[in-house]
Amino acid sequence: MPIQVAQEDRVALVTVDRPERLNALNTQSLQELLATFERLASDSSVRAIIVTGAGDRAFIAGADIAEMKDKSPSEALAFARLGQAVCSAIEAAPQPVIAAINGYALGGGCEIALACDIRLASETAVLGQPEVALGVPPGWGGTQRLPRVIGPGLARELIYTGRRVRAEEALRIGLVNAVYPPAELLERARALAAEIARNAPLAVRLSKEAIRRGLDVDLAAGLALEAQAFALAFSTADQREGMSAFLEKRSPEFRGA
Ligand code: HXC
Repeated sequence: MPIQVAQEDRVALVTVDRPERLNALNTQSLQELLATFERLASDSSVRAIIVTGAGDRAFIAGADIAEMKDKSPSEALAFARLGQAVCSAIEAAPQPVIAAINGYALGGGCEIALACDIRLASETAVLGQPEVALGVPPGWGGTQRLPRVIGPGLARELIYTGRRVRAEEALRIGLVNAVYPPAELLERARALAAEIARNAPLAVRLSKEAIRRGLDVDLAAGLALEAQAFALAFSTADQREGMSAFLEKRSPEFRGA
């Protein structure tokens, strides 16, 4: 099975496990990844998700070039849509998703990372959109999400040149949030996930949805979304618990309701 899922406490760890292909994604792994995120989306015991790659060389080295090479245009369209559906499922997952980028995150691998809420990288990480060197443009959201994350000027440069970016540069340009020694990466991702998991889960979900949907609309529409999300939280027990706990000077016990 190319996709492994483990759950510890309230955090799911999703590992792309094709190390002999540097975790390149073929149709089977994309379908499994999609099914995994669809399942995790409806699992309320999961408060945060980490995505990483097996082995110490790659997060995901992109789409599987061997599988892609002989596709017809209509097969390529289906393949682009399948990878886009995976990225959209990650982006729309109710729980925050953290990419633990433990090596190469190229092409489709960079696009999967871009669909995650938070990107953490190891010092050995290398990111980029090298598709034009293979004769194609990015196909799983790179032309849309990279400009939204690092701005259109730099995104254009990286996509037109296909240049690979090392961890330190990725940090400087805002492509990743933090860089850690390889041996610490997963531990740091787990600590961040645990920090998120301690908070009121519905409030975190409402925040994620307001950010995600707000990025696609104008400010006034985004503020309207935010006000609705804020009001909706007042129908939850966790809102009363969180505010009562503060006033009673104790730790809140959130139930996710
Ligand atoms: C298929 C891949 C692969 C990939 C690596 N491998 N990346 N197979 N698809 N994307 C395989 C290699 O063929 C090789 O198999 C084995 O993994 C180890 O890789 P090496 O190349 O020997 O390792 P190294 O020399 O260290 O180079 C690492 C690398 C290089 C720089 C990451 O493998 C590389 O450039 N890979 C391709 C990266 C890329 O262009 N990604 C974008 C793909 S396009 P063997 O059998 O020789 O051991 C894309 C489009 C998405 O993602 C949108 C689609 C619609």
